[in-house]
Amino acid sequence: MTTAKTERLDLRSSEDVIRVRQHTRVLAIEAGLSLVDQTKIVTAASEIARNTVIHGGGGMVTVSLRDEGSRKGVRLVFEDKGPGIADIEQALRDGFSSGDGLGLGLAAPGGCRTNSRSPRPPAWGRK
Ligand SMILES: Nc1ncnc2c1ncn2[C@@H]1O[C@H](COP(=O)(O)OP(=O)(O)O)[C@@H](O)[C@H]1O
Ligand SMILES: [Mg+2]
Repeated sequence: MTTAKTERLDLRSSEDVIRVRQHTRVLAIEAGLSLVDQTKIVTAASEIARNTVIHGGGGMVTVSLRDEGSRKGVRLVFEDKGPGIADIEQALRDGFSSGDGLGLGLAAPGGCRTNSRSPRPPAWGRK
């Protein structure tokens, strides 16, 4: 398995979110994903990028093209140093938002698989 073309992009503004969308689209095409799968991963990238900016106070994303021989794909790893997510299951639920968002961002990319890990313990006792 190889990872080619790794790039780290800043996520501080909505312009950065657009850049992440565009870069993800380019790599998804290069990986040979169908138009439907391109749209799924670009939508997921966009929602998580926006969350990184809004809820995480900004951060970084590492975008890479993966080549596993017969399988090619795009890998996105988002990082921020915000409060973390206290209750992942709740955050993934359709319609849940701790702010005034629609709460559909983490639920919308249905069919896409995301692995969410909080690198630091999230705020304890936060509701
Ligand atoms: N990077 C993050 N840092 C902290 N909390 C987050 C982060 N991403 C998502 N969340 C939490 O998960 C909730 C659900 O996210 P989402 O489905 O995208 O809804 P929305 O962004 O519309 O609130 C957010 O309201 C927020 O509480
Ligand atoms: Mg969101």
